[in-house]
Amino acid sequence: MARRFRKIAVMTGGGDCPGLNAVIRAVTKTAINKYGMEVWGVEDGYLGLIEDRIHRLHFSDASNILTVGGTILGSSNTSNPFAFPISTNGRTRLTDVSGLCMSNLAKRGIEALIAIGGDGTMASAGEFAKKGLTIMGVPKTIDNDIYGTDITFGFNTAVNTATDAIDKVHTTASSHHRVMIVEVMGRYAGWIALHAGAAGGADIILMPEMPYDIEVVAECVLARSKKGKRFSIVVIAEGAKPKGGSMVVYKRVKNSPDPIRLGGVSSILADQLERVTRLSCRAVNLGHVQRGGSPTPFDRILGTNFGFHALELLAKGATNRLVVWKDGKLGDIPIARTAGKTKTVKRNDSLILAAKGVGTSFGI
Ligand code: F6P
Repeated sequence: MARRFRKIAVMTGGGDCPGLNAVIRAVTKTAINKYGMEVWGVEDGYLGLIEDRIHRLHFSDASNILTVGGTILGSSNTSNPFAFPISTNGRTRLTDVSGLCMSNLAKRGIEALIAIGGDGTMASAGEFAKKGLTIMGVPKTIDNDIYGTDITFGFNTAVNTATDAIDKVHTTASSHHRVMIVEVMGRYAGWIALHAGAAGGADIILMPEMPYDIEVVAECVLARSKKGKRFSIVVIAEGAKPKGGSMVVYKRVKNSPDPIRLGGVSSILADQLERVTRLSCRAVNLGHVQRGGSPTPFDRILGTNFGFHALELLAKGATNRLVVWKDGKLGDIPIARTAGKTKTVKRNDSLILAAKGVGTSFGI
């Protein structure tokens, strides 16, 4: 017979995204409403687990949060419990403090943890499972790059935000007969660039998966100009790079599971294109705006489904599972299956083929 859980905790780790509160709400309300469980909220991801900042979540705490962006629990993307920086006598050592995390849960009688996060959060979740913690993962990220799930919540909202920005940039590009280059997030995957670019009617989409040729990009805008199209829209992923070149790193963040922060490729491309084409070029980097705002109905629904499914799995006695959306339905896979992998865009993705069909260039 499946074990009956009485106390569970929920946490959000890694970079935030719209829809986190929808999951917290689904987990908390289902746990209390359907299963009569007590729910606790861990503050600021694994950092709160390490620092023992864990508080009760009542039904009312999960009310009026469905439409709110961010996370009511806070998040952190620099706290790995298995390699946490501890300073003694002026020396900092990366220390395994996972035992402390386990005891902070145990002393409250918390028997299971729902970890909502990305690849970094899931890597640690898998390690906690090995130590015997009952843990369930829920995949989040605007980047949509988590291996094993066709979609993550947050992505749809980010695409909406980016598309809205591209629409706005269109009018000013047209008025000033310019090449406007819109940089979107996505880390090493081009999902946001591809989807927002296609939705916003970009003339050129540049993604990490397809290193671009500056000559091809220049020819494309010049050809448009010769045809009387006096402006062009380029959507570029922050991780895009020229053939034989490398990604633009603007910062390294110590103690982050992935310390590299990308950004700035749009300005570099704007300068190069202006030089080669002699057309007026401007860059706009959408940055963290893509992580904010109220989640779209799609992300609210996906978040609700994910949170509910995590609870159903727990009630069935499962552990160490990542909730996923695969082939049009909810499912789950072992957390470890996602570890160290990134879901990137395939060159034969149906949207790439459709975009090419309508004349979009990928700069290759
Ligand atoms: O993973 C989400 C994401 O927004 C990426 O698209 C981006 O590269 C990164 O996080 C930015 O991280 P930070 O919030 O640490 O600047």
